[in-house]
Amino acid sequence: MLEIFVGSKDTAATPVWLLRSSRLNDWCANHAGAAAAWVETSGFKAEAGKVLLLPDGSGGATGALLGIGDGSDPFVTGALATALPLRTYRFADLDGIGAENAVLGFALGTYQFDRYTGKKRENPRLILPDGVDGEEVSRLAKAIFLVRDLINTPANDMNPADLATAALKVADVHGATSRIIVGDELLVENYPMVHAVGRAAEVAPRLIDFTWGRADAPKVTLVGKGVCFDTGGLDLKPSSAMLLMKKDMGGAANVLALADLVMSAKLDVRLRVLIPAVENNVSGNAFRPSDVLQSRKGLTVEIGNTDAEGRLVLADALTEADSEAPDLVIDMATLTGAARTALGPDLPPFYTHDNALAAEISEAANATFDPLWRMPLWKPYDSWLSSKIADVNHISDGPFAGSITAALFLGRFIERSKAWVHFDIYGWMPKPRPGRPVGGEAQAIRALYCLLKNRFG
Ligand code: BES
Ligand code: MN
Ligand code: ZN
Repeated sequence: MLEIFVGSKDTAATPVWLLRSSRLNDWCANHAGAAAAWVETSGFKAEAGKVLLLPDGSGGATGALLGIGDGSDPFVTGALATALPLRTYRFADLDGIGAENAVLGFALGTYQFDRYTGKKRENPRLILPDGVDGEEVSRLAKAIFLVRDLINTPANDMNPADLATAALKVADVHGATSRIIVGDELLVENYPMVHAVGRAAEVAPRLIDFTWGRADAPKVTLVGKGVCFDTGGLDLKPSSAMLLMKKDMGGAANVLALADLVMSAKLDVRLRVLIPAVENNVSGNAFRPSDVLQSRKGLTVEIGNTDAEGRLVLADALTEADSEAPDLVIDMATLTGAARTALGPDLPPFYTHDNALAAEISEAANATFDPLWRMPLWKPYDSWLSSKIADVNHISDGPFAGSITAALFLGRFIERSKAWVHFDIYGWMPKPRPGRPVGGEAQAIRALYCLLKNRFG
């Protein structure tokens, strides 16, 4: 359990009242006296994420108010960790926020990326409200912190070898069986597109592959885009577009965290994780626009743009995933800018042919406040991927529906899987929100963990 959580109830704890703006007057009426007067004096309006300490008249505090605005952000308690003095708190009123979310939000607010500063901030503590499973919330928070750390670490310390090390750490903790195929071995083992995309980089490309769980349990396979840095390759990105591209292994980071959750909770699945880890860079041996690549599946792929590298490495990994005919294949990738144009950074699109699965995902997304939006694998656009000289082009030649055509390309490599779902995530908070600082961010894994727990828990 996270050390910020206090299980015992007899510790003297400072009360924190969560308060909607619309209930501020009520609260003051019910707490007549110095506290109410102080609310007036301070100009506190209970806006979301605003904290007001209530002085006790002798230099201490009798409690604190946390504004929650209209109450629409369940993780608004993320503002508390950095705003409150170091002591132990309890929630005196949640004003409609779910207790588990309030606790998770509090935990998320304690995140710090301190790898390069070494400066660790101490955090206040929280008494767990009745009925909240501190272990489970801690598990979620740690998984989200793992995603953030992996994404926030720049490519000079998070290259394909480093990402493999991080993946093995997760695999080894749970006793998973792992294998890593590195460099020219990718050619021997028939992962030609993983090799082609990653071969120009100083650190060799690799495929991370681990398996966990009872052999005859339902097969769930997770595939994550592990592009440790995306320069665009020979179709080099302009500097403004390249700046954030350390996050292009966000799919891998999320998949690893989800795997960690599944294995920690000992869900009854045969889990497999496949992560193609590469850096898309330039060199004399870089793959080129107009090249035709062999893929693991045997389809020849014409390269329209070396900056559409993610779908190439995923295609080979998905081919391998599909070969076992799993019950469910989930892939996650920071795949297209077009997904952001369509839905913005907070709302990742997902794609699946399976309507029942889509409904289940949407339900889990709502239940966990992990927003996701289904987009269509629109069949008529599939023809946009046709090539005159190869089996398929990996991009369409127009500006339209870029996230959909990327998903359709991936779909060409799925044949035997009983269900497949693809998430085109952003993996980054461009603007801070309570408990969610600017930087790498987990997406879709709380919803997916909820879904997998419902099915296999
Ligand atoms: N990693 C990028 C996609 C991306 C860009 C995700 C910005 C999040 C934020 C991906 O490899 C890429 O460059 N995609 C191209 C594809 C295009 C060349 C068909 C894109 O989206 O522009
Ligand atoms: Mn790219
Ligand atoms: Zn990319």
